[in-house]
Amino acid sequence: MCGIVGYLGKKNATPILLEGLRRESYRGYDSSGIVLFNGEEPTCIKAVGKLENLENKLNGQNLKGFLGLGHVRWATHGGVTEANAHPHSDCKGNIWLVHNGIIENHKELRESLEKEGHKFVSETDTEVVAHLIEKFFDGNLEEAVRKAVRLIRGAYALAIIAKDDPQKLVAARLSSPLVIGISANDGYIVASDATAVAPYAKQVVNLEDNEIAVINHNDFYILKEKQPEDLEIEAEDTQRGGYPHYMLKEIMEQPEALENSLKGRLILDQGLAQLGGLQNVSDQLRKIKRLRIVACGTAYHAGLIGKYMMEEYAGIPTEVDIASEFRYRKPILEENTALLCISQSGETADTLAAIQEAKRRGVLTVGIVNAVGSSIVRETDAGIYNHIGPEIGVAATKSFVSQLAILALLTLYLGRQRNLSLVKGQRIAADIQKLPGLVAEILKQNDTIKEVADKYKDFQNGCFIGRKYNAPIALEGALKLKEISYLHAEGVVGGELKHGPLALVDENFLTVAVCPSDSVYEKMVSNIQQVKGRNGKVIAIATKGNEDIKKIVDDVIYIPKTSEILTPILSVVPLQLFAYHVGVFKGCDVDKPRNLAKSVTVE
Ligand code: AGP
Repeated sequence: MCGIVGYLGKKNATPILLEGLRRESYRGYDSSGIVLFNGEEPTCIKAVGKLENLENKLNGQNLKGFLGLGHVRWATHGGVTEANAHPHSDCKGNIWLVHNGIIENHKELRESLEKEGHKFVSETDTEVVAHLIEKFFDGNLEEAVRKAVRLIRGAYALAIIAKDDPQKLVAARLSSPLVIGISANDGYIVASDATAVAPYAKQVVNLEDNEIAVINHNDFYILKEKQPEDLEIEAEDTQRGGYPHYMLKEIMEQPEALENSLKGRLILDQGLAQLGGLQNVSDQLRKIKRLRIVACGTAYHAGLIGKYMMEEYAGIPTEVDIASEFRYRKPILEENTALLCISQSGETADTLAAIQEAKRRGVLTVGIVNAVGSSIVRETDAGIYNHIGPEIGVAATKSFVSQLAILALLTLYLGRQRNLSLVKGQRIAADIQKLPGLVAEILKQNDTIKEVADKYKDFQNGCFIGRKYNAPIALEGALKLKEISYLHAEGVVGGELKHGPLALVDENFLTVAVCPSDSVYEKMVSNIQQVKGRNGKVIAIATKGNEDIKKIVDDVIYIPKTSEILTPILSVVPLQLFAYHVGVFKGCDVDKPRNLAKSVTVE
């Protein structure tokens, strides 16, 4: 990282810039430079090596200017040379700028500018910005900067001046920090951190992402540049695409949704997950000692499964809270805790408030969100998008399956930062990659599941049972049936059945047992026998190849084999289809169930 300083005021900029650079020299010290403007020609001095080398060069030159920029460098692009030291300028020596950050698309920008005749004198990514501003400059600096930053991809804190628009200092920020120091007597100083402005300014303004500050002698104002984001959805995505309901369309889209959620995020040979959205907080995540997950409804059920994954494979103590409770109870948030929030819409009020509560307490906040640019995305420090396109049906289906897959990726990411071995990581990564195909296999049973739904559609009461990774799936199965068919159903942890709910069971009571062939399968078999012992009807969700289960239940819906940690991603799919078909048989509006909303933006 580099350090930048800019000054506009009545005083001589030189000492102010140098003092600022001294205070920022911890940020980079392989070369430095300043440019000063006194209303005639800008004067630029650069030096390789420590800041003292620049100071020595300036000694005795008595350089003066009311406007100037300074920079200490930590080279990222181009060697440590005077030519590569900042400030950089355009072809005519009109635009001058200093930069902290990385211009990711500097190569393609440079090629197109060279084609337009621009001459480059350095190897840096930064010089591209000076020529880009030159391209748009027509006498108004901030206008040219506004147009230029739209074409930049990457991170930047920029301070810019122009000989042909001299009474102005412009600063722009995206990701890299930038403060404006305001001094009634001394003018305005922009810098990478407050230490550099402290000697002169009593007040500072922290520039936010995509903000451009326009500073003149008497005042400054901020332009908020809204970066256009690629619309991730196509018009037809919001169409039903020939399906009778959005819910069925979104259930059938799950293989593709999973592919999009996993795209470019698995490094199979290293058993790693690559999550670009966490890059900025990767070091902090390495240090966390505890995870708090907050969400609502179906997203909360995903969080419960995340807890099993994180504790078993990443070794991170994890607590899961319903957001509406988290925000009002006094959660103890220890040091080194991170808060993970999960939300399809990114607008759920309770989850947003829980994040704000955690942020007030200085906790790192990370989101798993589907809706691009939503409030929760803007509120959290970092996050992972689902990339599954819009989910229109009120019942969360593809978003849930994608949330689970991303929680498995995050477990891999955090686990491999800790003690999860390469071999185990490779196995999980390989199984994750197979998920889209396995879900597609289950969807082929849609007609069979419809028949099972038809058989049980008139049952008035039921419960879903599951254990360990599939205990939350029992909750989710019950929630889907409730919200889609208005049938009362309860999700019960298998081991809890005998502590009360078993009293509900008789020949008119339906139990759906989520019992893949995992480490608690035998326990689930004994739960099923408890129900059958009271003449209850049982549908089992079991692993393909398990023939024995047929002997003890009324109906079986099979799911393919996968590792235990991933079974919930498969076992929920038949439950989504079951709820859907029961809802349709009962004539319910499965896309817009009564009393519900897709995004709950109120308390
Ligand atoms: C689930 O089918 C419901 N639509 C509801 O429980 C939902 O999961 C909850 O409101 C959370 O919404 P979010 O994921 O958009 O935050």
